[in-house]
Amino acid sequence: MTDGPAVRRVAERYAQVVERQEWLNKPGYKLEHGMAFVFGLAGARARPLQDLLHGVWLGHPLHPVITDIPVGAWTAALVLDTVDMIAPRPAGFRQAAQMSVGLGVVGGIGGALTGLTDWQHTHDDARRAGMLHGALNTVALSLYGLSWRDRRRGRHGRSRITSTLGYGLTIASSYLGGRLVFRQRVGVDHVDGRLTPREFVPVLTETELAEDSPTAVDCSGVPVVLIRHEGRISALGGQCPHLGAPMAEGWLYRDQFVCPWHGSRFDLQTGAATSGPATSPLSSFQTRLRDGQIEIRRIPPAQLATTGQTAITEGAQRHES
Ligand code: FES
Repeated sequence: MTDGPAVRRVAERYAQVVERQEWLNKPGYKLEHGMAFVFGLAGARARPLQDLLHGVWLGHPLHPVITDIPVGAWTAALVLDTVDMIAPRPAGFRQAAQMSVGLGVVGGIGGALTGLTDWQHTHDDARRAGMLHGALNTVALSLYGLSWRDRRRGRHGRSRITSTLGYGLTIASSYLGGRLVFRQRVGVDHVDGRLTPREFVPVLTETELAEDSPTAVDCSGVPVVLIRHEGRISALGGQCPHLGAPMAEGWLYRDQFVCPWHGSRFDLQTGAATSGPATSPLSSFQTRLRDGQIEIRRIPPAQLATTGQTAITEGAQRHES
């Protein structure tokens, strides 16, 4: 067990016990396959729907944005209930608490949908922790649903008991959610963030790069993938921002570069995520040809919207875009 303050030891122990529950693997795979089946039923609409839930349109995972709503609303309800119990106030306090509980339920449904969509691409410890995180949230959401109904019917005593129980579960679940992000690195950007090389460096002889065949090169320890496509050469980061897949094993789909693990797609020109689960862009490098060598340099983040490709035109091998 980890040394340190008692609260840290207890929290660490709690998370480790959850992550070691290997019996969760089988139901986890069944749930994942069930989700794949449901999205499969949606046909061509599945990908836009998944992208919406992942947060590709936002450039940031949507789940942590949405979950702030129930946590905030239910905290407000707890405060309002407590104040009302200590010194009963006008009915406005109860109405405000009821509205907060209802708002939290709506946000909780959004959190469940976005969380489940992100969870299906997790593995091992993160997958097991994610299952308990989701189960606790589902029970909490159900309790708050009951609480909201009881509040409408004037059963204030029972409604406060169920919402207090729900709040405890929400806190326990939120700890696991934080651990999924900060320890398991689910939802964080996995690209190599180094800003090198700042000056052009040769990485491959131009004749060694075949058309539509992503080729891995090492640029001073930074993994990069070169792609020649329809007369242009692109250089993109070698690690997928979603969970760090080796992009050199990816492939082209139209003008996009596809991750080999979970199928995220990236714009060949800018590296921007065009389809999830990745929401962050691939690193992007500027390319040029010099004396038959492909040279690359990092595009400063402020210029990421600009093209990093080199056009290869017949008889003109020194064109830098
Ligand atoms: S690692 Fe998951 S989409 Fe690339």
